[in-house]
Formats: sequence, C-alpha cells, structure tokens
Amino acid sequence: MKVFVTGGAGYIGSHTLVALLAAGHEVCVFDNYSNSSPVSLARVRQLTNRDMEMVEGDICDIDGLTKTLTAFAPDAVVHFAGLKAVGESNDIPLRYYQTNVTGTMNLLAAMDAAECRRIVFSSSATVYGEAQYLPFDEAHPIGPTNPYGRTKAMAEGVIGDWASATPGASAVLLRYFNPVGAHESGRIGEDPQDIPNNLMPFVAQVAVGRRDRLSIFGDDYDTRDGTGERDYIHVVDLAAAHLAAIEYAAHTTGCEAINVGTGQGITVKELVAAYERACGHPIAFEIAPRRPGDVASSYAATAKARELLDWRAALDVDAMCASSWRWQSENPHGFDGD
Ligand code: NAD
Ligand code: UD1
Repeated sequence: MKVFVTGGAGYIGSHTLVALLAAGHEVCVFDNYSNSSPVSLARVRQLTNRDMEMVEGDICDIDGLTKTLTAFAPDAVVHFAGLKAVGESNDIPLRYYQTNVTGTMNLLAAMDAAECRRIVFSSSATVYGEAQYLPFDEAHPIGPTNPYGRTKAMAEGVIGDWASATPGASAVLLRYFNPVGAHESGRIGEDPQDIPNNLMPFVAQVAVGRRDRLSIFGDDYDTRDGTGERDYIHVVDLAAAHLAAIEYAAHTTGCEAINVGTGQGITVKELVAAYERACGHPIAFEIAPRRPGDVASSYAATAKARELLDWRAALDVDAMCASSWRWQSENPHGFDGD
C-alpha cells in the first residue's frame, strides 16, 4: 500500500516507519521537524535499507498539505503529527487546538481532494480522564481533564463524523497508553528536547548521568507499593499495532476507537527496578509530592485490539527498559550527536 505518514520523523512515527517499510509499504513522510530531526529518517533508511519520500511541511498549511498528499495519492494515512505536552497545552491552548484539531481537519480535507478514505489516528488514553472503573475499555466515558486531551477527543469526533459522512471511509482511532522503549538496534528512540515530562525518558537520563536523580511523584497512592501505576507499551509493539490497523482499515468501513496497551499496570518503583536491571547500576530517586492531576492507576482493556486487529503486546517491561537503555547509552544526547 502507499501510506502517507504525518509526523513520521517523531518518536512513534519513526518506529512505525521501520515496520511499514519492512512490510513492503511505500511511504511518504510529511513533517515540519518542530519536535524531531530528519536524522531519525536517515537512520530509518539505514535500518531498513529502504527509501521513502520525505517532505518538510506543516499540517496547518492546507495548500501545501493538499498538494503533497494529492501528488502522492496514498491508499492510507497514518496521522502522528501533533503537539503532545500536557503542561504546555495549559499555557498555549490555541496552538494545541490549531495543530491538533484544525490540522486534523486540514488533513481530512486533503484526503477528500486525493480521494483517500483510510486513516489511522494517534489518539491517547488521556481522552478517558478520571477512571470511573478499571481497566479502561473503549466504552468508558470520554472526559479529558486538560487542553491536550480535549484536542485529542475533538479530533476523534471530527474523524468519526468524517467517516460517517464519507462513503467507503474507514478510520481507526488508536488510544495509546504509555509508549516507552526503543528499536532494538539502539539507532532510533525518544529524544525529548527539554526536561522530560514523562517517567521513562527521565529515568533514562538519570541512568546515563544527564540528571542527578528521579523525583517519584507520590508514594501514598492506593497501589501495591504506593507509587503510580501505568500501562507501559513498547513502542515496537505499538508500531505493529499501526500495521494491523492499516490492514483492518483496508477491508472495513466506519470508525473504531481501539486501546493500545498491555493490560498490565506497572508502578513507578517497579519500572525503576526494571531499569536498574537493564543498565546494571542503581537509579537515584527521592520521594516528592504528588503531581497535580495524576491518578493512582491507569491500564487498558485489550480485548477489542485482539478481536478487531488480531494484535496483542508481545514485549515486557524488561525489553522496554533494555531497549531504552541501549538507545540512551549509545546516543546520550539523542539525535544531536549527528
Ligand atoms: P513526537 O513529538 O515525537 O512526534 C510528532 C511529530 O509531529 C514530530 O516529528 C513533529 O515534528 C511533527 N509535527 C508537530 N507539529 C506538526 C505540524 N504542524 N505539521 C507537521 N508535523 C508536525 O511525538 P510522539 O510521541 O511520536 O507522538 C506522536 C503522536 O502520538 C502525537 O499525535 C501524540 O499526541 C500521540 N500520542 C503520544 C503519546 C506519547 O506518550 N508519546 C501518547 C499518546 C498519544
Ligand atoms: C502522561 C500524560 C498523558 C499522556 C501520557 C503519555 C500528564 C498529566 N499526563 O501520562 O496525557 O497520554 O503521559 O505517555 O502529563 N512520574 C514520576 N516522576 C517523573 C515523571 C513521572 O514519579 O519525573 C510518575 C507519574 O506520577 C506517574 C508515572 O510516573 O505515576 C507515569 O508518568 P508519565 O510518564 O508522565 O505518564 P502519565 O502521567 O501516565
């Protein structure tokens, strides 16, 4: 298939490109490199020994987007491009709505112009908000608690309405839980530009000596050891879920939201212990106050992904930490080293 990938130079996009190219798909990447580097694409080409089209462009520029997408004439679109920092979304909400909602509307309009009817969208478990029950299944009420989450919920709604109104259209909304880890080669991985907001990249930077110690945000939650519990999903498993979603979209119509997680909760302390096993030395940490807005536990119901996509996570927390450590220790400053 010909697959148009917005935001393909980013963390999840680059890993998905490896899977797409290895499966023989023809790819065009569209990215403005606002949170990534073309070096990741060069490494994807080295890893796969395959070529792809790479276009520098912004999904907010509807004319440039439409021109590129129409010229490529894809069979399917995978839409990663977007802004993703929860804290920042409180400070500059309009940029989040512009990029994540208007950008998605531009993409759908460009797809209409190119008569492309299939889309796989990067959504997030954050659309569920406060858990009314666990595990989160896809029927759990939607109630995001921050602007970032609201842009994802709105984009889901726009895509759903587009799919209903467009004969033959098929959309898969993949609700990722907590993507972590890296490609086993250590050549591509997560490369946060500032101080990492998320646990795993922070732990990785402590392990490699870029930061002194981890602050664990709260050890008095109602969990096994008092620290927050999340459903970490290996980015290579997540990439495989995109491949399965594209195949699914190719023979179905309508719009489905599907969780992508392992179904298992891992606490902060368990993740730190797994990382210590991977890197072979202790990770310094201190207990800090709870982070506002955090919940005790979040993990996925995984039955729908198994039923519709025939996909399930294969890689465990040790594989997640080992791959993260390989990437971090071999590229201590991310893609900046090149
Ligand atoms: P990322 O920032 O590494 O990748 C996003 C890519 O989109 C980057 O390459 C960036 O340069 C590009 N981009 C941003 N704005 C753009 C624009 N206006 N035009 C063109 N390109 C643009 O992030 P990621 O972690 O790979 O996330 C990919 C998607 O998955 C995002 O939509 C994110 O919201 C979603 N998601 C991520 C997580 C996570 O924890 N990483 C969790 C749930 C959902
Ligand atoms: C965060 C986002 C969520 C997004 C998800 C994707 C917030 C409030 N939520 O979720 O919208 O979909 O990332 O990956 O930002 N922790 C520490 N110390 C740290 C960092 C984190 O103890 O330095 C703890 C947190 O309290 C939490 C766990 O680690 O218990 C995971 O945190 P994080 O990686 O930020 O992910 P989420 O909070 O699940």
